[in-house]
Amino acid sequence: MDKNRISWMLDGVDKYPFHMPGHKRNVGLVGRDFPYDRDITEISGSDNLHDMSGVIKEECDRAAALWGAKRAHILVNGSTSGILAAIRAYAGHDCSVVVARNCHKSVYHGIELCRLKPTYIYPKTDPASGICASISPAEVDRALADAPDARLVVLTSPTYEGVISDIAGIARVVHARGALLLVDAAHGAHLGLGGFAAHPVTLGADVVICSLHKTLPAPTQTAVALIGKSCPNPAAMAAQLAVFQTSSPSYVLMEESARCIHLLQREGEKLMRAWLQRLTAFEADSASLQHLQLLFRGDLPDGVFAYDPGKLVISTRGANLSGHELADVLRHEYKIEIEMAASDYIIAMTSPADTDEGFALLARALCEIDVRIEADSSAYPVHLPQLHTVYAPWQVADLPQICLPASEADGFVSAEYVWAYPPGIPLVVPGEMITDQMLAAFAAMQSRGTELHSTNGQKPEQMPDALRVVTEESI
Ligand SMILES: Cc1ncc(COP(=O)(O)O)c(C=O)c1O
Repeated sequence: MDKNRISWMLDGVDKYPFHMPGHKRNVGLVGRDFPYDRDITEISGSDNLHDMSGVIKEECDRAAALWGAKRAHILVNGSTSGILAAIRAYAGHDCSVVVARNCHKSVYHGIELCRLKPTYIYPKTDPASGICASISPAEVDRALADAPDARLVVLTSPTYEGVISDIAGIARVVHARGALLLVDAAHGAHLGLGGFAAHPVTLGADVVICSLHKTLPAPTQTAVALIGKSCPNPAAMAAQLAVFQTSSPSYVLMEESARCIHLLQREGEKLMRAWLQRLTAFEADSASLQHLQLLFRGDLPDGVFAYDPGKLVISTRGANLSGHELADVLRHEYKIEIEMAASDYIIAMTSPADTDEGFALLARALCEIDVRIEADSSAYPVHLPQLHTVYAPWQVADLPQICLPASEADGFVSAEYVWAYPPGIPLVVPGEMITDQMLAAFAAMQSRGTELHSTNGQKPEQMPDALRVVTEESI
């Protein structure tokens, strides 16, 4: 037993990490020891994250130059803090906001905090994989026409599954209607570097939030907020970051963010090209897959504008095992831990810190599993219905509520969120009416191994009192 580790840390560390954080515990690249000797605070010469003028400002300016932004802020409270700050800085209060419905739950928390009225864009689903496709400029334009008082549009690109939207086209329609564009690129910090797709901040987005810790060699919680050249009021973001970030930011996290940014500036091109080469080799090594399918390679499906090859999304649809079962086989037989398992696919997250050996191990495992499984199209794909929004998420707090078994909730307005984490995209948002189809989707997801969570901490299948609903609406 490693005396330096507490017991819950021991379980995962003997597996190859196809998951976050992006440093992949590659100590050859990032070093071995947590640096207590560098864990300082705002002392002479160490600058102040919330009022920067010295060394922290230099690092933020370096980040802005690297990604082509007007300004940058290092974040130590993850992308979550940047998303909340950007919504509060630019969406206004008590007005409409246009939001892609597949956003992370932090966006909904921002809507609640600012008492905004969301107009949702429901992304189309790629029928072959069940994964959300891109958001198009035309969809954004229509949503803005329906919500003329909206000052902000929020969408995710790349998504958790790696789907990229046409940010240049979307920025044009957003700006033409006098609004601003916030892109949650928590999964896209590597964009714009090496041979990867252009970064949203150079494509016209006004604010872009990127987690360093997801796709780059940097520790958990590190992120950057990038302010685009068209953003009219960068100071508003700085003011809100002081609200949503700790007043005691970790200097170790800031230093490691800076180290990551220096590494990218110095060797980013080389690291990204090597990563892309490993991804290409992985594609070649897994080309023989018959039942499992590596998605979004070659011709992209209709509705998918572009794709981030750093995400390995492997579909089990049409095979006789679920995504969860595939994840279990990889964990127990091959000592590979993946990022996320859904009913009929898994996501292996990759980064420049992944090794040739890691990719080869995953390709070999998938090819071996593929020959022992069989085609089976009997598993019914989970269909997620669109729900009718009766109230904005924050409005339900003041309405009378009761708890019901989920099976009896059809026709009631939900007073809470239901989600699977990852990816943390709400299946139900407070204020949406629950339908039989959604309850059937819960059951189908749970029968295939997906764990669902709700705000009150109960699992929707738990009885009784599983879901809090609004009592006055039972339509
Ligand atoms: C799309 C998306 N946005 C935002 C976040 C929040 O990022 P962080 O964990 O860095 O706060 C996540 C986290 O998984 C995410 O997947």
